[in-house]
Amino acid sequence: MDPELQTLFDAARAVRAQAYAPYSGFAVGAALRDADGRIHAGCNVENAAYPVGTCAEAGAIAAMMAAGGRRIAAVLVMGPGPGLVTPCGACRQRIREFAAPGTPIHVADAEGVRACLTLDVLLPHSFGPENLTGEP
Ligand code: THU
Repeated sequence: MDPELQTLFDAARAVRAQAYAPYSGFAVGAALRDADGRIHAGCNVENAAYPVGTCAEAGAIAAMMAAGGRRIAAVLVMGPGPGLVTPCGACRQRIREFAAPGTPIHVADAEGVRACLTLDVLLPHSFGPENLTGEP
């Protein structure tokens, strides 16, 4: 595996072990690289009041912001099951706030990377900050 991708994979795998998912049993880890090359990670954190739970991607973005990062260069999401664990719709929008259309979003399970997509493939014709400012 490409060393940069391996770094993201390892970070997602490590943080996934910290997931709090007693209700779904579906542990997810997300890692992202910011514009300075720093890695930030998050896991899903569920809640007895189900809708209050948060996704792994949201945690990783919060960690990036807390560290002063503002741009996402790459994302890797790791989760279980036969289906690809692509970011949910809300998390696609969360990523979109800080990423470019071509930003890679890698989808993995514990065995390896299963798909390499981009933000614009997952969220075409998206709405973002530029729409509010009128800039192209
Ligand atoms: N989940 C994530 O954390 N990220 C995803 O990309 C998909 C789903 C979490 C939310 C919930 O805690 C569990 O996985 C089952 O939906």
